[in-house]
Formats: sequence, structure tokens, C-alpha cells
Amino acid sequence: MEFFDVIESRYSVRGYKKDKIEKEKLDKILEAATLAPTGVNYQSFKVFVIDTEKNKDNLKKIYAQDWFIEAPLVLCVVANKSKTWTRPWDAKNISDIDATIVMDHIILAATNLGLGTCYIAAFKKYEAIKFLKLSEEYEPILFSPLGYSNADRADRPRKPINEIVEYI
Ligand SMILES: Cc1cc2nc3c(=O)[nH]c(=O)nc-3n(C[C@H](O)[C@H](O)[C@H](O)COP(=O)(O)O)c2cc1C
Repeated sequence: MEFFDVIESRYSVRGYKKDKIEKEKLDKILEAATLAPTGVNYQSFKVFVIDTEKNKDNLKKIYAQDWFIEAPLVLCVVANKSKTWTRPWDAKNISDIDATIVMDHIILAATNLGLGTCYIAAFKKYEAIKFLKLSEEYEPILFSPLGYSNADRADRPRKPINEIVEYI
């Protein structure tokens, strides 16, 4: 797909088919995650590939929408705050930014391969930590189901350019 077609065709998929994901596609998506840029190239993140069928009960506790457990896989990007760059003069830690870029790479790569996804931040953090057995320094940042879409795009109009851009 052309790059702009990928951006335009991505949408939050909130309904999935049961169809399995081809290994080559999953590998390519995970490769896209490794290619994501991170501050100072610290790469202090991990990607969990979760088998939905095997982990349904735990996933339900983390995010209680039926469509969350429809796709064959759920991905989660976690970040190690203590190993992520922190801006020294005001202590801004960029682990959320790094992890979000990683998930964005995953999601755009998935879109390019015809797969559906949905950024999910509204999950129960402590249920996720328990399920993923994360040590103290790791924080789960975003989840997304990964599968073939079974739901149309919802109407989510965007603001026009002149409302979001300021030339100064
Ligand atoms: C960082 C982030 C977190 C989000 N978290 C959730 C979520 O927890 N649950 C959900 O259903 N959608 C979530 N979304 C999806 C947004 O609601 C959606 O991207 C937005 O409404 C625009 O629609 P579109 O993705 O179909 O273009 C999230 C999106 C982003 C970027």
C-alpha cells in the first residue's frame, strides 16, 4: 500500500473475525516494532504477543469489551521507565512516547498487511501487571487486538488543518 493509503485506511477496529494471523505477517509486524525509533535509541520496551483463546479470562479482567477478545491475538507494549531517557532539566520521562511510537509502528504495519487493530489505553493497569508478571520497573502502556476486521469504521471526523496548525 502507498504510505498515505495506510494512514487513511487505518481505523479503530472494534469487532474481529476468528481467522488466524499468518506467521509471516506477525513477524513483519514485530519487525516494524523493532524498527521504531526511541529516545537515545534506548529501546527500553517489550512487546507481548498474547494468545487470546488461552488467556481469555485474564484479558477480560484487563479490558472488559467483548471485541477485545475476538481477535486471535492481543499485543501489549510495555516500557521500562528506569531505562528510558529522562529530560534532565525538568525530569520528563519519555517512556510513554517511546512505547506509543512502537505501537504506532505495529498498527501501521498491521494496516498495511490488511489487519485490524485498536489502540487501547483504558485498561486496568494492575490487572495487566499481574497477568504479564511485570517486574516493578515495567509499565504496560498500550494494548491492541490483532486480527481481521469484522466491523466498519465509526464516524470520527477530524478537525480541519487550520484548527490544529499555527504558523508563527
Ligand atoms: C493513545 C490512544 C488510546 C486509545 N485508547 C482507546 C481505548 O482504550 N478504547 C477504545 O475503544 N479506543 C481507544 N482509542 C481509539 C480512539 O478512540 C480512536 O483512535 C479515535 O476515536 C479516532 O478513531 P479512529 O481510530 O477510528 O480513527 C485510543 C486511541 C489512542 C490514540
